[in-house]
Amino acid sequence: MTVADFSTDGFWQGVRRPVEAASTMPSEVYTSPTFFDAEQSAIFDTSWVGVACADELAEPGRVLVRRVGSRSVLLTRSGDGVLRGFHNACRHRGTELLECDASGLSMIRCPYHRWGYGLDGTLVATPRFTDVPVSDFDPADHPLKEIRVDTFGGLVFACLDPTTGSLAEWFGDLGSRLAGYGLGGWTVRASNTFDIAANWKLLSENFQEYYHLTWVHPELAKVSRVRDHYRWQGPGMYCGQTTVPVSGDDRGDWLAMPQSPGLSRMDAMSGRFLALFPNVLLSILPNHAFVIQLEPITAELTRERCSWLLPPSAGEIDDDAFSVTREFWVLINNEDIDICERAQRGIGHGGFTEGRFSVRFEEPLHRFANMVADRFQRVDRIPDGDGTDAVARFGDGVLPA
Ligand code: FES
Ligand SMILES: [Fe+2]
Repeated sequence: MTVADFSTDGFWQGVRRPVEAASTMPSEVYTSPTFFDAEQSAIFDTSWVGVACADELAEPGRVLVRRVGSRSVLLTRSGDGVLRGFHNACRHRGTELLECDASGLSMIRCPYHRWGYGLDGTLVATPRFTDVPVSDFDPADHPLKEIRVDTFGGLVFACLDPTTGSLAEWFGDLGSRLAGYGLGGWTVRASNTFDIAANWKLLSENFQEYYHLTWVHPELAKVSRVRDHYRWQGPGMYCGQTTVPVSGDDRGDWLAMPQSPGLSRMDAMSGRFLALFPNVLLSILPNHAFVIQLEPITAELTRERCSWLLPPSAGEIDDDAFSVTREFWVLINNEDIDICERAQRGIGHGGFTEGRFSVRFEEPLHRFANMVADRFQRVDRIPDGDGTDAVARFGDGVLPA
């Protein structure tokens, strides 16, 4: 298949049908290097891509090196407190400026000929460049190439496309759904990185459904029971579900830490599980959040950056109390990694072309597949929500009021 095939109606016809008649995405989207390359432009060059936790940039002089799809970018917060993003390339002859995160910087120095840039991107040093005069050269004309960055829900997002709407528009009603948590003030307690032999979309799809809960996560099913799940999707570029109550009777691993004070009654008794298109998997509980940022490396390899965020009230929580929560997530995440790698292997064996969706459990995957199709077919659309929470849908019960 060629790149042009991936934007045709024929390629997406199964995905475009209503969920009860739809097919899952064709197998090429998980395995083909050609599709992967096309996806970098169609999705990662046009979307708001999650790149960091805002708290990682709290310290002045900190510079993060992150990926927007396959491109390296720099994130800075300069002395004026402004968050900025730049392409990680020198304006002299293009050299990659930083290979890894750095702290305490007042200037970003290129290793090649030592051009230096302020954290606001301005070119402030060009050693010996004008030993002999250069015509028409003004350093002000050569700042680092800036990209759009913004924060949402305690996370930093970057967008390479100037024509994409604002980040607030991108996530639609989700900002108001999450406002009560005050996630912008939550801080990173711990982080982990995993390299996973699976396509990034398999990891997102796995997160979006609880169909596999009983069989893949027998321990989680005791904490977060199948019958306590409800769809939680308004208009916006996300797929969501919620659990109420947040924890069942059998195990209380998610209740080891005190909850954030001041939550609404529903936030205080719910878990929120949100796949933010394209690459962030956000789980919010009353006392912590677990964030996964997916970095696609190849069609069949994905890096997961995992972070645990705690509310400001959690300052006193010691490592023992936190480790109950952390170890539970590591267990669950390892089970998800294993099954996603196995799914990747099965798709790679050939024979699988496309599958079907469980209407009750996998409607969010259908929503996600249509978002992917929209990016390839250049349909500029924010998906509608499910409507009021007051009615049962897709086989869920009615969300308790
Ligand atoms: S390439 Fe950066 S200073 Fe020359
Ligand atoms: Fe899972």
